[in-house]
Amino acid sequence: MSLLITNIGELVTNAPRGAAAPGPFATIADAAIVLDQGVVAWTGPAAAAPAADEVVDAAGRALLPGFVDSHAHLVFAGERGAEFAARMAGLPYSAGGIAGTVTATRAAGDEVLRSNLARLAGEMLAQGTTTFECKSGYGLTVADEARSLALASEFTAEVTYLGAHVVPAEFAADRAGYVSLVCGEMLAACAPVAKWVDVFCERGAFGADEARAVLAAGAAAGLQPRVHANQLGPGPGVQVAVEAGAASADHCTFLSDADVDALAASRTVATLLPGVEFSTRSPYPDARRLLGAGVTVAIASDCNPGSCFTSSMPFCVALAVREMRMTTAEAVWAATAGGAHALRRTDIGHLGIGARGDLVMLDAPSHAYLAYRPGVPLIAGVWRAGERM
Ligand code: NIG
Ligand code: FE
Repeated sequence: MSLLITNIGELVTNAPRGAAAPGPFATIADAAIVLDQGVVAWTGPAAAAPAADEVVDAAGRALLPGFVDSHAHLVFAGERGAEFAARMAGLPYSAGGIAGTVTATRAAGDEVLRSNLARLAGEMLAQGTTTFECKSGYGLTVADEARSLALASEFTAEVTYLGAHVVPAEFAADRAGYVSLVCGEMLAACAPVAKWVDVFCERGAFGADEARAVLAAGAAAGLQPRVHANQLGPGPGVQVAVEAGAASADHCTFLSDADVDALAASRTVATLLPGVEFSTRSPYPDARRLLGAGVTVAIASDCNPGSCFTSSMPFCVALAVREMRMTTAEAVWAATAGGAHALRRTDIGHLGIGARGDLVMLDAPSHAYLAYRPGVPLIAGVWRAGERM
């Protein structure tokens, strides 16, 4: 079955016309796209479009690659609305709230966790996210981390083992013992269901040597590294990420010149999570400095019950434009192709020939409306692997 979507006001391809490879931000005006067997078969001017089995008239609307949300924590129980309210009344954010979510998650049955995950994954899809990454990290026992990852894998292939989120209370007097567990028995139980290993490298979570040990053990078990880095203050996270060849260093809120240089000289993507700064009332990362240095920048939601409880990539794009001074083109690229780079995927985040047929249609004539009309439900249609959702 082939599908032709025609009369597209602006088609964002992130690929030169006719190319099979992802590339920089690129658009075609008055465009059409053909999907065949779930992948992109043709793009070009609507006037030159070939015939197809089914035709959709976009009526001048914009069409984008589906959003790639490369950072989310969706396996949890409970909520922390009171913590958010207290923050807005003046209290600072600290990673201390994670413990409450760990308690609630351990106490929850699989069905509670699964239905929460399904609800959040549904929210994401309705807002144009066609691929998302999902971490464990609120279980922090062998059994609870393993079941968190098994549940995540019911919803996505991009599953991340985050046993090294924080040291749980029962190991407060034995950090080394917890790191050994994360690198040993817990990893053995989790590696078969995960693709990635992550560590929260931050004061109050894990130090540089602990983070290196977690990433090295994960790599030895076949997991690829990514790092929560430099979120709450300056620190070694970015350097650890680059040294480990991580696909992504996430947050990047407090960076030194050496951190920016290290990212620029590496393949490690800087994934910015502006919803976190919004929701914790913190300074935003300096996206212009990273872009100016030639660093590959992604935007993701970090959807979690503590530091940022949004599942909306359109909201994150609007924040990136307004608060981090990214252009609308940079922000949309970062939320699509940037996320694909952060997950080391070449089949998503762009609409070159052969790319997966993951599309978002906006009820608007251009990608700029994602920031120009913030908070407005602009998603007029979503296709995943060629199927309308
Ligand atoms: O990415 N930084 C660590 N973890 C999450 C927050 C977790 C929480 O507060 O529950 C984050 O911001
Ligand atoms: Fe996170």
